[in-house]
Amino acid sequence: MRIVLVGPPGAGKGTQAAFLAKNLSIPHISTGDLFRANISQGTDLGKKAKSFMDAGDLVPDEVTIGMAEDRLDQADAADGFLLDGFPRNEFQARALDAYLASHGIALDGVLDLEVPEDEVVKRIAGRRVCRNDSAHVFHVDYTPPAVEGVCDTCGGELYQRSDDTPDKVRNRLEVYHRETEPIIDYYKQQNLVVTISALGAVAEVTQRAMAALHRGE
Ligand code: AP5
Ligand code: ZN
Repeated sequence: MRIVLVGPPGAGKGTQAAFLAKNLSIPHISTGDLFRANISQGTDLGKKAKSFMDAGDLVPDEVTIGMAEDRLDQADAADGFLLDGFPRNEFQARALDAYLASHGIALDGVLDLEVPEDEVVKRIAGRRVCRNDSAHVFHVDYTPPAVEGVCDTCGGELYQRSDDTPDKVRNRLEVYHRETEPIIDYYKQQNLVVTISALGAVAEVTQRAMAALHRGE
């Protein structure tokens, strides 16, 4: 399956993507995670992305699209993928369509996670991420690790993302409404969108998502 996951910052895209990718045996491709990995490795791409991410703004399209396409070119994405955080504006959506068309493939669905803004703010404020693996995500109240500050999965140190402060979250939400929400209509015109509520326990949302994706097949 080839799926795009959309939803506001803090909706639970990364959390759900980890389970969905496993259930569907496809790679989870997060442009946010790819940027953060480049920043921690000190690459040129990471240097280009850092100031935009720190401000909660979108990284320029020419940097982002090239990185996403390079990742999609890798062998494990040949038969399917779950894209998380890409595309994030209509220009990127059109670039992805062109990439897929040039490979003779198409998306199977766009899963839209709906969460009220006050819940998103609470989820982001309590988020803690593992330094070893950004797929290991916790919440201090909702899904706390057994030992404070320590990843349950690998024992790594948990930290708070630098773009998770209230003023940056406000900007990220504005950017989402302005730049990213319009791609939902873009994909609705292609009849690809399935919208689900992302409220409730993590496992409940995963079940809802799996059912919606299979209905949309
Ligand atoms: P990115 O990393 O993609 O961030 P985001 O879209 O803002 O999304 P988040 O990672 O904040 O949230 P999420 O929906 O994954 O939620 P999570 O599962 O962690 O992008 C960061 C930056 O990179 C951008 O601002 C931009 O600068 C740049 N960038 C990335 N892609 C780009 C692109 N295509 N173009 C340009 N720039 C780009 O969950 C949040 C919290 O809630 C966690 O603590 C979790 O434990 C908790 N939680 C999850 N589900 C539940 C639940 N059901 N119940 C209770 N708690 C829950
Ligand atoms: Zn970990």
